[in-house]
Amino acid sequence: MIRDALDRPLGSLRLSVTDRCNMRCRYCMPNESYVWLPRASLLTFEELDRVADLFGGLGARRLRLTGGEPLLRQDLPRLIGLLAAHDWLEDLAMTTNGILLGPQAAELVAAGLRRVTVSLDTLVPERMERFARSAHHALVLEGIGAAKAAGFESVKLNSVVVRGFNDDEIESLLGFAIERGLELRFIEYMDVGGASEWSSGEVVSREEILARVGARFGPVRPLDVARGPGVAPPAEAFELENGARFGVIASTTAPFCRTCDRSRLTADGTWYHCLYADRGIDLREPLRAGASDEQLRQLIGDAWRRRTDRGAELRAAEPERGVLYTLEGLKDDPRREMHTRGG
Ligand code: GTP
Ligand code: 5AD
Ligand code: SF4
Repeated sequence: MIRDALDRPLGSLRLSVTDRCNMRCRYCMPNESYVWLPRASLLTFEELDRVADLFGGLGARRLRLTGGEPLLRQDLPRLIGLLAAHDWLEDLAMTTNGILLGPQAAELVAAGLRRVTVSLDTLVPERMERFARSAHHALVLEGIGAAKAAGFESVKLNSVVVRGFNDDEIESLLGFAIERGLELRFIEYMDVGGASEWSSGEVVSREEILARVGARFGPVRPLDVARGPGVAPPAEAFELENGARFGVIASTTAPFCRTCDRSRLTADGTWYHCLYADRGIDLREPLRAGASDEQLRQLIGDAWRRRTDRGAELRAAEPERGVLYTLEGLKDDPRREMHTRGG
């Protein structure tokens, strides 16, 4: 297994299958004039599968499909079938906003998708309309129900907590998840590309989230889940006295870059070593120019060995933390936005 310059293995690849989305979450793609990737630049399923397999050959064991909204990509179960067939694969998951999940959940499981995470930031439909410009809150709830019934190994919920938007829903969101036996993870609001209205005042820290949960649900016990490359997710796990579990992803106040074994491929085949990275590596060009597997493995392996990224840590060390990119900066490169990087 190859390791990067900070001794981190290449364990997990996030494949963005489309940059298109049917929501407009303010923390992810807020500006009106975002630029979509040209359709012809999108990797085909065969190309995506080939890249994934090259990563498998270099030690990757976990894949996650992301977007934009991955379920907007036509015929996704076919890609899942291709990926699920690799014998090196230990985990195949997807992060979705849930709008299109209901009717597809059973087919996704049948194709080989093992885990799904649904974003749910509010239980109030009007808030979703305002914050994410979507009137489909009921479909998201339906999608969550269908996923639970479809037999995934796990169904998780992601809630990004933004002060002044949904911080008064910490208790009700967790209550919703507990009632349905789902693991919810509260996510600190991150200053990633796309979050062009980010301010530190809108971040609700892990400490504050835990205090709020404790005040409502009683003592919160941190679970001693080993965290490290290939060992544990970015979420820290907690347990309530009644045994219910939830997580907190504290990327903003407590970055976990030192154990980060992930990288991400945009839908047009640009490979990013970090959520915060300014530049990626174009894999589509050599792929389409006829490079051999050996040549591509060499390219990917060499680049990973040089990797020093620890974007969230560097951001956290900045004395005056503002937005990562201005709107102008985002327009300069559409791949800077979270919806293109896949979260
Ligand atoms: P699990 O394996 O199920 O735990 O999934 P996950 O947490 O890796 O995936 P998900 O797509 O649900 O990501 C949840 C949140 O974690 C994202 O919204 C990001 O805020 C954060 N996150 C995911 N990957 C990274 C990463 O590589 N770096 C940082 N700093 N944050 C990340
Ligand atoms: N901060 C934290 N999480 C974010 N996501 C998107 N933008 C941000 C941000 N600025 C999350 C989504 C989804 C995941 C893929 O990324 O809510 O759960
Ligand atoms: Fe990994 Fe970059 Fe996220 Fe740090 S900020 S955990 S290095 S992707």
